[in-house]
Amino acid sequence: MFKNKDSYKKGYIDLPVDPSLNIKDEIKRMRSEKNAIILAHYYQTGDIQDIADYVGDSLALSRAAEKADAEIILFAGVNFMAETAKLLAPGKKVLIPDTNAGCSLADSCDHVEFRKFLDDNPGRTVITYVNSSSEIKAMSDIICTSTNAFKIVESLPAEEKLIFAPDRNLGNYIARMVNRDMLIWDGACHVHEEFSLEGIIKLKKENPDASVIVHPECKLPVRMVADFIGSTGALLSFVKKDKSMKYIVGTEPGIIHQMNKSCPEKTYIPAPSTDSSCGCSECNFMKLITVEKIYNTLKFEEPEVFIDESIMERAAMPIRRMLEISDKLGL
Ligand code: 13P
Ligand code: SF4
Repeated sequence: MFKNKDSYKKGYIDLPVDPSLNIKDEIKRMRSEKNAIILAHYYQTGDIQDIADYVGDSLALSRAAEKADAEIILFAGVNFMAETAKLLAPGKKVLIPDTNAGCSLADSCDHVEFRKFLDDNPGRTVITYVNSSSEIKAMSDIICTSTNAFKIVESLPAEEKLIFAPDRNLGNYIARMVNRDMLIWDGACHVHEEFSLEGIIKLKKENPDASVIVHPECKLPVRMVADFIGSTGALLSFVKKDKSMKYIVGTEPGIIHQMNKSCPEKTYIPAPSTDSSCGCSECNFMKLITVEKIYNTLKFEEPEVFIDESIMERAAMPIRRMLEISDKLGL
């Protein structure tokens, strides 16, 4: 998946940055000298979001990658996002600052097991959430993100039988809204699965004026106590137009940086997690990316994302199909 792996055995370039440098100015300088753009997901830290050319959710970032006229795309996010950018912009150099930035949800769908699942259930249209490996995408008919999943499923002919992968929670969320014959792969994200129902109910009692807003990757009981369910981009748009002044936010707390920037007069409380390792709901993969790693990645132009030629075109096809349908539906 990555070229020149010998030069960054740890998965990133492990060189100290000269402390006399203004690292953010240096990143800006290299970015214009090298004709590079920095795309950052909402789950990145605030300092990274603030140096990015574009900050967004998975759908918006896929579009930004496809339309980018830069020679280099530096992706501040996780591997499947950088791979999606490479699939949509194959002629560009796509860089990711740390190749250890995986995704537990993407990892919950192994491509050998998935091939067997498809063979055991032939004749079904395969809808795959973008949080998946390129190998899984290459076995899919259409990709979706949490922004467009419902509309993508709805757009498919009523007589088609479906498979939805890999997120059981997003799949179950969609299945409850549509009357479709749909098999759902049993995968999940460790961050969104860990939100504490009891903790959210307790917080809501202490803050009766707060609205509960959650990502569809959360489990059903958590979704059931939510006032609004949506992708990261949809949660941000909701906060901007909603009348509440306080929110309990059931997704990775990086999104709160943009909420604070857009509506600083409002209060945002991260929903509590049952995860005892950090007691928080941060995505450890997203948080592997740092400003220092971005600096070294731009400087050395490594690690570079590389996708096996044999699956490149097949994996890009269902993503392009998603973008075409989303464009038609104005999503
Ligand atoms: P979005 O599609 O809402 O950006 O979510 C991506 C993700 O990884 C959620 O955990
Ligand atoms: Fe993957 Fe979950 Fe992290 Fe999103 S929050 S990138 S689904 S591990």
